[in-house]
Amino acid sequence: MDSPFGLLAELTYRCPLSCAYCSNPVNLGDYHDELTTAQWQRVLIEAQELGVLQLHLSGGEPLLRRDLVDLVTSARYLGLYTNLITSAVGLSRRRAEQLRAAGLDHVQISIQADEATLSDGIAGTPSYAGKIEAARLVKELGWPLTLNVVLHRRNMDRVAAVLDLAEELAADHLELANTQYYGWAWRNRDALLPSRAQLDRAEAVVRAARKRLKGRMDIVYVLPDYYSQYPKPCMGGWGKRQLTVTPNGDVLPCPAAHALPLPRASVHEDSLARIWARSPLFQSFRGTDWMPEPCRSCERREIDFGGCRCQAFQLTGDASRTDPVCHLSPDHGIVAERVRAANEENRLGDSVLVPRPHRGRPGRR
Ligand code: SF4
Ligand code: FES
Repeated sequence: MDSPFGLLAELTYRCPLSCAYCSNPVNLGDYHDELTTAQWQRVLIEAQELGVLQLHLSGGEPLLRRDLVDLVTSARYLGLYTNLITSAVGLSRRRAEQLRAAGLDHVQISIQADEATLSDGIAGTPSYAGKIEAARLVKELGWPLTLNVVLHRRNMDRVAAVLDLAEELAADHLELANTQYYGWAWRNRDALLPSRAQLDRAEAVVRAARKRLKGRMDIVYVLPDYYSQYPKPCMGGWGKRQLTVTPNGDVLPCPAAHALPLPRASVHEDSLARIWARSPLFQSFRGTDWMPEPCRSCERREIDFGGCRCQAFQLTGDASRTDPVCHLSPDHGIVAERVRAANEENRLGDSVLVPRPHRGRPGRR
């Protein structure tokens, strides 16, 4: 068993935005009771002792935690590489300078589109102008900047303009991340799933931009799962490289695993080391012994690990089945049907998106 490389610390699920593609749990009310500063600091110490090198501070919106600077200071003291994953709402100059002084290494800002009307429409709140200002501030303060744009049916045709914006902002990395259908995005799947024609157009634009921006901007673009022949090696394998701690202290092999009918693990009840090594949750899908056919005898079983357990559960009701995204899965028809529907010529308009609720009360901690 390897040590985990990265810890995703979901500090809070409160968020000033209400994106319909959000992968946070739909039962947000269950996460009111957030870990205290001291509890998070213990988690960071245990993570570092376990071998974690990278700390991703996420949410929700991590800037809503008043103790964010203290947590970055602690992580820096422990020698962890720290990455802030933020909507940038609340990243004032003062806060940014405090985070810089505390030793924050990297900032990733999400934008919803390349222009205010669409971006604010998707975010459910006027935020685009502030995001652009914050992105410029990040560069001014000398951080590397990653822009993250979650792609879906509503903004897929704007990829060329998104690339222009990223270039103008001198982003070092651009993540064009196709929507993953968990949490709120699962509820909105039919309204978010792009058509094949949209994907083909976007891919051609990205290919040309990669050539043009080589050495200046690193562009990550991965085909959406539903259109792939094989599934992604989700999280690099279950309980293999990463772990997630949720705002209330649950420890998960991936951010979506809260939805699986598996035993719980929590920092309130055990150490990260014991949870990582011995908990039934982390053992559930480690390695290849749990695999059914066709994965069990497939030559790709240690490449994609049978795909995503959360996706298998969502689509079939059984987390131990082959990810239906795989064209070899006996359940692949479920995915093929959604793709067929997304490409219907006479598709009647777009279904209505259900936004996740705002939970923007400023930091309780
Ligand atoms: Fe991966 Fe299983 Fe499909 Fe083989 S059968 S490609 S291991 S998901
Ligand atoms: Fe949970 Fe893929 S998101 S295993």
